[in-house]
Formats: sequence, structure tokens, C-alpha cells
Amino acid sequence: MITLIEIAYMAAAVLFIFGLKMLSKPTTAVRGNLLSALGMFLAIAATLLDKQIISFEWIIVGVLIGAVIGGIAALRVPMTSMPGFVAFFNGTGGLASLLVGWSDYHVRFTGSGYGPLDTDTFVLLLATFLAILIGGVTFSGSMIAYAKLEEKMNSKPLLFKGQQAVNALILIGIVSLCILFILFPNAGVLYALFLLGIVLALILGVLVTIPIGGADMPVVISLLNSYSGMAACAAGFVLGNTVLIVAGSLVGASGIILTSIMCKAMNRSLINVLFSGFGASAGSVSASAQKGDAKSLTPEDAYFVLEAASSVVFVPGYGMAVAQAQHAVKELGDLLQKNGAEVKYAIHPVAGRMPGHMNVLLAEANVPYEQLVEMDDINPIIDTVDVCIVIGANDVVNPAAREDEKSPIYGMPIINVDMARCCFVIKRSMASGFAGIDNPLFFKENTRMVFGDAKAVITALVNEFKSS
Ligand code: TAP
Repeated sequence: MITLIEIAYMAAAVLFIFGLKMLSKPTTAVRGNLLSALGMFLAIAATLLDKQIISFEWIIVGVLIGAVIGGIAALRVPMTSMPGFVAFFNGTGGLASLLVGWSDYHVRFTGSGYGPLDTDTFVLLLATFLAILIGGVTFSGSMIAYAKLEEKMNSKPLLFKGQQAVNALILIGIVSLCILFILFPNAGVLYALFLLGIVLALILGVLVTIPIGGADMPVVISLLNSYSGMAACAAGFVLGNTVLIVAGSLVGASGIILTSIMCKAMNRSLINVLFSGFGASAGSVSASAQKGDAKSLTPEDAYFVLEAASSVVFVPGYGMAVAQAQHAVKELGDLLQKNGAEVKYAIHPVAGRMPGHMNVLLAEANVPYEQLVEMDDINPIIDTVDVCIVIGANDVVNPAAREDEKSPIYGMPIINVDMARCCFVIKRSMASGFAGIDNPLFFKENTRMVFGDAKAVITALVNEFKSS
């Protein structure tokens, strides 16, 4: 007979699946998020009640405390710090799985070791080891990703001689430990192997993340997200909890799919992302050395070009998020439209610092979804565009990716703003973007730099339109 708890778990799983599906479109994403959160609440409440861990009064108290902490965090964390926080949360998920594996080990095996190695014991031991292993790698790897994204450590790849050999040795050590852990029935030795496994997993997490450069962080975040799901899935096997297995598998699978989408967006393989130390060396052209060659315009002069334009495409990047210029950009877009221009917003899949970063900001400013275009849709018609306005974007519009075979980003798809009739680049200086490489776009014949903070420049353009 199906019990109430099984029905609750099934309902939670269905809510997770529908929630995930809805998250894939901006128009349904908010409802998708709410559905998934409802599923998680159902799963947690059902487990706590079923295992008679706490009564429903305490669950309500927990929900209230959690809602206050979550609400304050959501309100206080700036959008620019969101990717770092996602990495941090992935890490805490990994740590939770590690702790579940560790505490379950104590409950089951401390003192007595285990009896004959039957199938159930084998699965349990393997799941316990995987929970601490994947959880440990996820935790320390995510903390490094967090530190790099929050600029608490250098975001450049950290490479040393023999790095991959060291990683391979640690991995071989961990697999050997796992085999010994499963085959050794002696409790004292078992615990020593277990603790050594935790230490090696934490070291491996650090070593596999430090060689990855800032520009590859989107891939690392989604990969770590996938790891945290796999660790939760292993913890689900340890606890014999169906919904944890389902939720962990969903996170694991969706993280891998997102990772593959990201790799495609950068035209790189996952192996290349993880092992090439991308971005360790700078590009061949020094932007600062060529500063004199770039032509600049004041917002007042840029206004005259825009006033005459019949099609304008905004290409936002990380700088728009830093300047919080999205509302001013929307206002300028509306004024341009009123002036008779066709206005679009072209979004690169890895613009900003997290998947969907630009979509979130533009949605916050109420830019209609119909005006958003993807890179693959704008590139074929970009030569018909009068003006492309690049707002704080750099790597995602760098033509070196198309033209310079020696460039570290060669082959990465970009928005071809340099092919528009005219291109304005709004940024504060000639500095490079997240990948740390120079950008030949700034020196193209049809490019004009409009130096300044994105919000200040766009606001100045808005004022020009209003006062004309
Ligand atoms: P970036 O290449 O990072 O360039 C951003 C530019 O914004 C900088 O060159 C900076 O130049 C300018 N900027 C900063 N503050 C500004 C302000 N207040 N006003 C005007 N400009 C400002 O950005 P992108 O083109 O969006 O590319 C994203 C990069 O981040 C890619 O390399 C991507 O791989 C990486 N990344 C992406 C993600 C995801 S998932 N989207 C996550 C992590 C990393 P100035 O200093 O001269 O102003």
C-alpha cells in the first residue's frame, strides 16, 4: 500500500520537475522557482514528521526563521555578488552531504566495524564514501570558486609543474582508499581510512579548482552545482531517503546539462576548461599600449549619431551590472524607440557573471521580452544595424575570438558588434575584461569609445534626448 509519505515524496518530485522545466523560460521562471521551493518544503516537512524528528510546531518555527534569514540575504546580497553566493551555497550543500556521510558512519560502524560484506552493506559503504568524497570536493572547490569570484583571491589560473600528475595521484589514492574502506572489516583501520578519504577529497577540491581561470568560472559553478547534486544523491542512499535521491539526481543532471550548454557557448570542451589553465597568459596586443589609437566620443556627440539611427542594438555586459545602469538603459531604449528607431537588446549566454545575469537585470527594468534577442539571432543581421551600444561588455564582444588564432579565446562565439555600421563602447577605461585579455574592438575603424561609468554615460544620453 502506498503510504502518505510516499505520496508526499512523489508530489515533491513532480513539483521539482515542473519547477525546473519552468525555470528555463524568463516568463515562467519566477513561478518555477516557487513550485520547486514548495516541493522542497513538502519533502523536508514530510521527512521530519515521518521520522518523528520534530513536531509540526517546530517545523513552522523553522520555516519562519529560515524565511527571515533567506529574505534578508536575498535583499542584502547585491546582484553582482550573486554568482559568488551560488558557489558558496553549492559548497554548503557539499558540506552537508559530507557531514551526513560522516555522522551516519558513526551511527553504524563506530566501535564494531561491520559484519559480513553483503550487498546492502556494500551499497551503504560505497554510498557513504561517495557522499564524503564528492561532498568534500564540492565543498573545498566551491569555496575556491567563491573566493575567486568575490575577488578574495586572484582569479587567474594558478598552475604549477606536475599539477595534473599530483591530481591523478590523489585520485588514485582516493579510489584505493575506497576499495580498502569497503574490504577492511576492522573498525579502527576503517575510521583511519575514512578520515584520510575526507582530507584527500578536500585537497583534491582545491587542486582541481585553482588552475581554472576567472573566465571559466561559469562552467565551474554549474559543474560544482552538479557535484553537489551527486553528493546529495549519495547521501540519499546513505539515509535510504527517496526524495533526496530524486532531488540530488535532478540537480546533478541539470548541472551537467548547463555545464555542456556553457561549454558550447564558449566553443570549448569540458576537458579544455578544466585542464588548460585558460587565461594564465595575457593576449598579444596591449590595449593600454594602443590607447592612443582608439577614437573616443563624448555623450553629447554620441547623441547626434543616435538621434539619426533607425536601428539600435544594446549589448550589455558585466559593467552594466556594476553600474546598475539597467533602468537608465531601458529609459534610453524607450526614447530611441519614440524617436523612430528599432531597438533590441542582444544577450550573450555568458555575459556578466552568472547564467541569465543580463536577463535578470533587464527584466528588473521591465524591458519587454520581445525586445531581447539571442546571439545566434542577432549575428546574421548585425551588419544591418546602425548602432550597437556595448554597455560594460568586453570579452563577449572581443573580435579576437574570431580573428586571432593565437588568442586564448579563439573560437569562442561572440556578438559581432564590430560588424555593425557603428559601435559605441561604454566603459571607464581601456582595461581588459574578466578573461584578462586585450580587445581589438576598441581600435576598429567604426568603433567609438564613450568613456565613463555606464549609468552616468547613459543618463547623459537620456538627458540629451530629453532636452532636445
Ligand atoms: P567583462 O569581459 O568582464 O568586461 C566587463 C567590462 O565592464 C570591463 O572591461 C570594465 O571595463 C567594464 N566596467 C566595469 N564597471 C563598469 C562601470 N561602472 N561602467 C562601465 N563599464 C564598467 O564582461 P562581459 O563582456 O560581460 O563578459 C563576461 C566575462 O565573465 C566572460 O569572460 C565570462 O566567461 C566571464 N564569466 C561569466 C559568467 C557568467 S555565467 N555569465 C560567470 C563568471 C565569469 P572598465 O574597467 O574599463 O570600466
